[in-house]
Amino acid sequence: MTRRTVLITGAGSGIGRALAVEADRHGHRVILVGRRPEPLAQTATGLRDARVLTADVTTVKGRAAIAAAATEARLDILINNAGVVPSGALNVLEDGDIAATLALNVAAPIALTRDLLGPLTASRGQVVNVGSVFGDIAFPYFAAYSASKFALRGFSDALRRELAPRGIAVTYLAPRATQTQAAQGFARLVGPMAMALDTPEAVAAHAWRAIATRQREQLPASRERLFVAIQRLRPSIVDRVLIRLARDPTVIAAARGSLSRP
Ligand SMILES: NC(=O)c1ccc[n+]([C@@H]2O[C@H](COP(=O)([O-])OP(=O)(O)OC[C@H]3O[C@@H](n4cnc5c(N)ncnc54)[C@H](OP(=O)(O)O)[C@@H]3O)[C@@H](O)[C@H]2O)c1
Repeated sequence: MTRRTVLITGAGSGIGRALAVEADRHGHRVILVGRRPEPLAQTATGLRDARVLTADVTTVKGRAAIAAAATEARLDILINNAGVVPSGALNVLEDGDIAATLALNVAAPIALTRDLLGPLTASRGQVVNVGSVFGDIAFPYFAAYSASKFALRGFSDALRRELAPRGIAVTYLAPRATQTQAAQGFARLVGPMAMALDTPEAVAAHAWRAIATRQREQLPASRERLFVAIQRLRPSIVDRVLIRLARDPTVIAAARGSLSRP
């Protein structure tokens, strides 16, 4: 892959920061987007060619600033990574939590991709959407989050088909649980739900292989890949396993103490 300009939302921490480091390692120029300047500046430290852009992807003003920067920099790759991971029982989720989750995880990537179609068409570029294994395997106590990642996967499929005639590739990434700030919100569920966590660096290194080859989607190279295959072929098997988990008193107790708001 020759030198590209890569814009990453949510680049101040977690998977976004690790993707920025990975892009830099491969010799690409990066534009780092987030709401707070300090974490973005920390990500930029040590990168060879990084620009920091403070913007909120859920606002028209924020996306206009991103579009101006993307046009000026001749954007090649947009990585829609910024997201929240709300968890907890559905009955404690408030309207504001649901709206905030869908605004950041679903509406923002759709609107931002639309706003950047000009530069992406000019470069015959690539859209990368950071989804989740929960975008295939809907998890109890992650209902709003799972719904948002199902939506992002649906958007990715439609977009891939719609943008192929323009030469724009669409890559949907589905990491499993990852040790980030977002994961602190569901930490109490990790043990009882037997989740395995990757480091953001491992996720980014794996992801970059799919990005560089303009792959259509990428699942983790772990047992979750098999679970997704079973979910797609025989969802009733996954129902049985996850209903048993949802009934487990330890899981119920952990979910009660694990409300994490977006
Ligand atoms: N952690 C996991 O277990 C896991 C697993 C699979 C997939 N994912 C996905 O990976 C992505 C990144 O999550 P993460 O775990 O790395 O979380 P994270 O460390 O909390 O990072 C989220 C980033 O998004 C930025 N952000 C939040 N709201 C924003 C907004 N309105 N506009 C612009 N930037 C915003 C935050 O910075 P500011 O607050 O400064 O804006 C933050 O740097 C998400 O899409 C998540 O769903 C996570």
